[in-house]
Amino acid sequence: MRVLGIVGSPHKDGNTAMLVKTVLEGAHENGHETFLFNLIDFKIEPLSSAEGKKVSYPEDDMVRLYPYIETMGALVLGTPIYYDNVSDRTKIFIDRLHYYSKTHGEEYRSRFPDNVKAATIITYEWENSEGYDEVLKWLNQTLEGYWRMRIVGSLKADSTTKKPVKERKDLLEKARQLGRSL
Ligand SMILES: Cc1cc2nc3c(=O)[nH]c(=O)nc-3n(C[C@H](O)[C@H](O)[C@H](O)COP(=O)(O)O)c2cc1C
Repeated sequence: MRVLGIVGSPHKDGNTAMLVKTVLEGAHENGHETFLFNLIDFKIEPLSSAEGKKVSYPEDDMVRLYPYIETMGALVLGTPIYYDNVSDRTKIFIDRLHYYSKTHGEEYRSRFPDNVKAATIITYEWENSEGYDEVLKWLNQTLEGYWRMRIVGSLKADSTTKKPVKERKDLLEKARQLGRSL
C-alpha cells in the first residue's frame, strides 16, 4: 500500500512534521511504501473562479500531488493549529481536493481512490489536551464524509511550546504504532 504523508506546517523539522514522519516510519516498518510532502515546498493556490458558479482548479504544484493522491491507500495528514483552526496550507490542500468532487465531474470523482485509510494529527501550544477536539472532529468528518476515508487514528500534541514533540517519547511511540496499524 502507498501511504501519503502531508505536513501542513511551514516547519519541516517542527512538531507536526515529526509526528507525520514517525507515523510514516511505522507504516514503512510494516512494509508499506511511504511518501512525505511538506506543503511549504509546493506553491498551491486557493481555488479560483470560473464562469457561472463554478470554481476552477489552478494548474500549479497541486498537479504534482495528483498522482500520489490517486494511488494512495492511506493518508497521514498533519496540521498545526493556527488561530483555533487548521493551518492555511492545510485548508487550501483540503479545498483543492474539490478537484475530485462530483461537482467537477464523475470522471474526476472516479480517480479518487476508494477505501483510503487516514490518520490525522494536530499540534498546538495551548496547554489543554482537549482544547481543539472540535477541529480534529471537523477534520476527521471532512475526510470521512466527503472522501469516504476511514479514520484509523488521530494524534494530538498539546503544549508544544513547553513540551516539543521531539522530547515526547510516549507520543512518538504512539505515532509509530499508529503507522504500524495502517
Ligand atoms: C500563526 C500562528 C497561529 C497559532 N495559533 C495557535 C492557536 O490558536 N492555538 C494554539 O494553541 N497554538 C497556536 N499556535 C502555535 C502552533 O500551533 C504550535 O506551535 C504548533 O505546534 C506548531 O507546529 P509546527 O512546529 O509543526 O510548526 C499558532 C502558531 C502560529 C505561527
